Amino acid sequence: MKFEITAPVVTDRLVLRPLEAGDAQALHAYQSLPETARYHFWEPRSLDEIRTKLADWVEMNHLEGEGTLAFAIERREEPGLIGDASLRVTSVEALQGTIGFSLHPACKGRGFATEAAGALLRMGFEDLHLHRIFACCDARNTGSWKVMGRLGMRREAHFREHARFKGGWDEEFYYAILEDEWRNNVCEDGLGARGRLQETGSAR
Ligand SMILES: CC(C)(COP(=O)(O)OP(=O)(O)OC[C@H]1O[C@@H](n2cnc3c(N)ncnc32)[C@H](O)[C@@H]1OP(=O)(O)O)[C@@H](O)C(=O)NCCC(=O)NCCS
Repeated sequence: MKFEITAPVVTDRLVLRPLEAGDAQALHAYQSLPETARYHFWEPRSLDEIRTKLADWVEMNHLEGEGTLAFAIERREEPGLIGDASLRVTSVEALQGTIGFSLHPACKGRGFATEAAGALLRMGFEDLHLHRIFACCDARNTGSWKVMGRLGMRREAHFREHARFKGGWDEEFYYAILEDEWRNNVCEDGLGARGRLQETGSAR
């Protein structure tokens, strides 16, 4: 599987582009916050840590087999990084992939994560021809699993205390959607049918 991001991905309100070396400060603005790190396995990141990681992330703009595509999220109307997202091909043989997303807290609550993740589902199914895309999050990370539910992803698993997490046990949800489910559900805007609804009761 070979793929290269040759142009930014543009949605109604967002631009998803490869990360750049100059993004360190903007990433630090939210990755240094306890509320961003709360449900991640990592702790709030220093600027030096981000600069070190960014050296790898800027290379994640193409695939040659399994690997990750990493994106900065910007608003179309107002340039500047407001979050990051990723699409990782976990198995070329079984055409499996996973998505992830994070926003600066000041930009939450407007559907930006749902819109960005919807664009990654479209890329995964239409450009990479994946068969199934999954996403996982801490069970207490309501904002995260609500994004997955809005996109039409199904909750497939609730792993109870299957890993150590920040001095205790984790509780993890797995969500997934198959390519044909996405195609049957998909709207012109690239979101699953439920992506347009404010109500996510069926995902609870
Ligand atoms: C996970 C995370 C990205 C979710 O952010 P979010 O703002 O809740 O998600 P969205 O940007 O899709 O916004 C959805 C909210 O905006 C509302 N909204 C407002 N306008 C909207 C629009 N035009 N379209 C869709 N939703 C809209 C929705 O109703 C929803 O609100 P609700 O949660 O009260 O129902 C965010 O909490 C985050 O960055 N957390 C820290 C990092 C993290 O945990 N990442 C996930 C790791 S697995």
